[in-house]
Amino acid sequence: MRMPHAETLPAGATRGVAVGLFSASRHLLGLDGMPRTTLIEILDAAERDLAHLAADRSPRDVLRDATVVIAMFEDSTRTRVSFQIAAKRLGATASTFSSHGLSLSKGETLRDTLRIFEANGADVIVVRHPSPGAPAYLAGQVESAVINAGDGMHEHPTQGLLDLMTLRQAWAGRFDGRRIAIIGDVKHSRVARSAIFGLTTLGVAVTVAGPTTLLPTHVERLGCTVAATVDEAMEGADAVMALRLQRERMDQGLLPSLAEYTRVWGIDAARVRRMRSDAVVLHPGPVNRGIELAPDVADGERSVILDQVANGVAVRCAVLRRAAGRDG
Ligand code: NCD
Repeated sequence: MRMPHAETLPAGATRGVAVGLFSASRHLLGLDGMPRTTLIEILDAAERDLAHLAADRSPRDVLRDATVVIAMFEDSTRTRVSFQIAAKRLGATASTFSSHGLSLSKGETLRDTLRIFEANGADVIVVRHPSPGAPAYLAGQVESAVINAGDGMHEHPTQGLLDLMTLRQAWAGRFDGRRIAIIGDVKHSRVARSAIFGLTTLGVAVTVAGPTTLLPTHVERLGCTVAATVDEAMEGADAVMALRLQRERMDQGLLPSLAEYTRVWGIDAARVRRMRSDAVVLHPGPVNRGIELAPDVADGERSVILDQVANGVAVRCAVLRRAAGRDG
């Protein structure tokens, strides 16, 4: 199977063609190129799902006759769990697979594995894969709707949508004129990439900062500005997003030491005070406490990390409904 290589991906350093739209197909592959109206429609749908989730704990029957397969070819805790909960709360039949339990280890190709899911009646296949472009490749191979749950260093659209939802709540519904700082390992972060695409489409100014070894080359082509220091990036911002150091994706010594990283780029209470007084702190999780985020900031009153998790279930309900053609 041919898989696009990280360096040759459209979203690698520049904004690519629109490949992630729900409109032409029901796939959700990325936020790059997704129009503002589609983003807002999904956020509005997710708010309705959030209200349902809070009001009634019994499963709805919106997806009663639908089958959702959640295929994880890379580790996942919160994304997997939240897709499972979303599928169950909508009344779907949901099956989860992780790569170590699959016949891939017996030599079966990814395409054949996914076609088995399709032959089993999957209406929606949620896929996480270490190779950038794997969900897009699969979307061209199967009839089922494909949702990208994170593909290597490329995109993580449902995380981007839940970040937008959390910010819209924190910002009283207004994106225009806001500014967010995204700090740390932008280079390896599909979370940052999807967030940057969604935020800039909605009119939010994005400033990134991090060690030069952990910023993509020509990162400004993604539509953001680059600050030299974390203090400069956070000064007067409306929000900060700390990123996890993706040490599993680093194949060389990109960092002098963790202690040095924390001193120069870690977000502590003093740095949080540089932002506006109502600014919020986001982190996609899992948090390396005491490295990219001080524990008192992660648990502090400005943190919306648990809102992100709760919104994650609502966003995945909205996205599953849309993929299954039941977004009413
Ligand atoms: C992220 C991921 O896997 O991309 N986690 C998540 O989905 N919440 C971020 C990370 O692993 O750092």
